Amino acid sequence: DAASQMKPDAWTVSSNEALKLSLVDEQGAVQFCPIFTYPIFGDSEQIFGYQDLQIFLAFDSITFKPFSNVRYSAKLMDTVDDVQKKILEFLPPNDVVVKDEISWVDMFTKERLSFNLPGSHLRIKSYDIEDEQFAIYKVQLQDPKIKLLHKRMQIFTLFFIESASYIDDEDEGWEIFLTFNVKTKQCIGYSTTYQYWKYTGGPEFDIDANSSATGKISQFLIFPPYQGKGHGSLLYNAIFDIWLGSPSVREITVEDPNESFDILRDRNDFLRLQGTGFAEAIPDQLPLDQEWLKSQRLSLKLEKRQFMRLIEMTLLNKSS
Ligand code: ACO
Repeated sequence: DAASQMKPDAWTVSSNEALKLSLVDEQGAVQFCPIFTYPIFGDSEQIFGYQDLQIFLAFDSITFKPFSNVRYSAKLMDTVDDVQKKILEFLPPNDVVVKDEISWVDMFTKERLSFNLPGSHLRIKSYDIEDEQFAIYKVQLQDPKIKLLHKRMQIFTLFFIESASYIDDEDEGWEIFLTFNVKTKQCIGYSTTYQYWKYTGGPEFDIDANSSATGKISQFLIFPPYQGKGHGSLLYNAIFDIWLGSPSVREITVEDPNESFDILRDRNDFLRLQGTGFAEAIPDQLPLDQEWLKSQRLSLKLEKRQFMRLIEMTLLNKSS
């Protein structure tokens, strides 16, 4: 009736529910909702002015070529926010196919023909899960093909990582680690990383001898359809192992980890420590010797806070 039509509630929807994300493959589309939309639609995560609003944002699961369409049964007035425009602001310009689904399918089908995984010299790990083969690659973000892929994928960090923002992808320092399904060429997840250099003195031209880097995991994401199968742990361990083996990296850190990343990190660091015989080597005498702690921490390349958590976990595990 006319009176209820005038209530503001009738014209307000949750942007987290209105936005339908999907990844499209040969079998069809896997649809899921974002966890956060405030970077796009504002802190209240509400959209005013529409009824039965649905915002579709779909990606080809291989090329990540984006498609978007907005549907609603009624619009309050012409001056309400243009939701389609808001979404487009966060995606590469002139890349999103709007409304015309058939031409989107045409375009990504063509793009797929020339879509290749990064070169095998960039592959740092291969593994199988449920009879499917996966590989992890370490690539400079400046690689043009990876840069475009990243420009298309990065909106997922806003949807799934609280307080995420876009990185400066013109900066030469970014390295990106990506996991692909080897057969389908689908990207399973990725992590952007950066090495911060510290100069420890000496002549400046002798960079190797007088400097060391902190390896930082910046954004870390496994796409929702592929979560909970171990890909996150394998990606984290692959990054860690590369930096453990790199003489220039002195310490490994994570930018603003959330609770689920902390759990993943604790579990995998703990297992790595057990593999090194750390628990057996830990002295029985408390307090623990500071020099011993320091040498252990440096050789494991752990930052202080994380190292102390692991010591606690190890001691608890020993005494239980
Ligand atoms: N079969 C079934 N379950 C498994 C398997 C397996 N083979 N292997 C591991 N699991 C379980 C783990 O035990 C774990 O269980 P839990 O949820 O009870 O702890 C769970 O699956 C997750 O472990 P993984 O599968 O290794 O991790 P996943 O691939 O799901 O990645 C991540 C975890 C990265 C947090 C992912 O869920 C994600 O991307 N979330 C959204 C974005 C996000 O939060 N990113 C981190 C932000 S912090 C930052 O960016 C620095």
